[in-house]
Amino acid sequence: MDIQELQQAFSAVFNAEADATFFSPGRINLIGEHTDYNGGHVFPAAITIGTYGAARKRDDQTLRFYSANFEDLGIIEVDLNNLVFDKKDNWTNYAKGVLKFLKEAGHTIDFGMDIYVYGNIPNGAGLSSSASLELLIGIIAEELFALKLERIDLVKIGKQTENNFIGVNSGIMDQFAIGMGADNRAIYLDTNTLEYDLVPLDLGDNVIVIMNTNKRRELADSKYNERRSECEMAVEELNTVLDIKTLGELDAKAFDEYAYLIKDENRLKRARHAVLENQRTLEAREALAAGDLERFGRLVNASHVSLEHDYEVTGIELDTLAHTAWEQEGVLGARMTGAGFGGCGIAIVAKDKVDQFKENVGKIYTEKIGYAPDFYIAEVAGGSRVLSRK
Ligand code: GLA
Repeated sequence: MDIQELQQAFSAVFNAEADATFFSPGRINLIGEHTDYNGGHVFPAAITIGTYGAARKRDDQTLRFYSANFEDLGIIEVDLNNLVFDKKDNWTNYAKGVLKFLKEAGHTIDFGMDIYVYGNIPNGAGLSSSASLELLIGIIAEELFALKLERIDLVKIGKQTENNFIGVNSGIMDQFAIGMGADNRAIYLDTNTLEYDLVPLDLGDNVIVIMNTNKRRELADSKYNERRSECEMAVEELNTVLDIKTLGELDAKAFDEYAYLIKDENRLKRARHAVLENQRTLEAREALAAGDLERFGRLVNASHVSLEHDYEVTGIELDTLAHTAWEQEGVLGARMTGAGFGGCGIAIVAKDKVDQFKENVGKIYTEKIGYAPDFYIAEVAGGSRVLSRK
């Protein structure tokens, strides 16, 4: 969608001119999965598919929202002075949460807005459409009310919305990647300290193919919270002897020595994933910096194996995609990306093998699962931003 189309779409819905237009990306994660709430490292990147917005300030206290993805819902009206979760307000709850927490943090948002939204992130694909929307609403308010905000404040407010308004106990990776992304850079983030580096994503003659299972990640939220508490319990057990806050503080050797303290096999597997995945992420960053793409690819594969067998968040659809991808010519590595339980995987594929890759993986997946996957080339690009001003 270009700026003119966005402005026209806004005017058609609200009969007025937009003050500004916006874009907020989705994200993929190269490696470092389910490590962000375990105090570990992540390595995500913002992509060119995401959520577009157009908005205008009103002179009353009414918020009016319209999403081209939910045309049936029409315009949803919300009172700026009553920002509470309400199921019937559907997707606008994300927007309400962000505005509520911005106000609570002392920012002045004293008038309503008309907000038009259109996203081209496939629904339920695990490419963070919700964080994309949260950051979009954040930058709309920032622009229209000239708020004095650091980007990291918006990132944290996005997470706060997810945790305390929507009720998903997620970490900070998605909002961070979406808020801080940069052209052709992956974000190497220590989720414990929030120190980060924008790492050039030099993949030589290879591209990242996003593989969509087309299975919605329906169980994701409840299982997600379950994994999180399993890891927290493992920390408590380790702390009968150790003194750690998160699993990210342990390296493989320390974990091995103290693993006997964890009394349940599932918790042992979850904790082992969190510790080793963090180590793999450190190694993957080194491999990328050294230009050792083959090693980088093997670490990506290892991440999937661990998510499949130890963390148990993949499922037959993601496993079929990853395992089939591993067999293809020109593939450096492949794994699930995001929370899991459906959604998307990524594969690093030689440019001249992409067509063959899609055909082969598509065919085998369709035979086994009964419906087709989708493939998109991931273009790694900038974070949430203003596209145009009146
Ligand atoms: C979801 C969450 C993130 C992260 C990933 C798993 O995307 O929102 O915080 O935990 O799952 O790595």
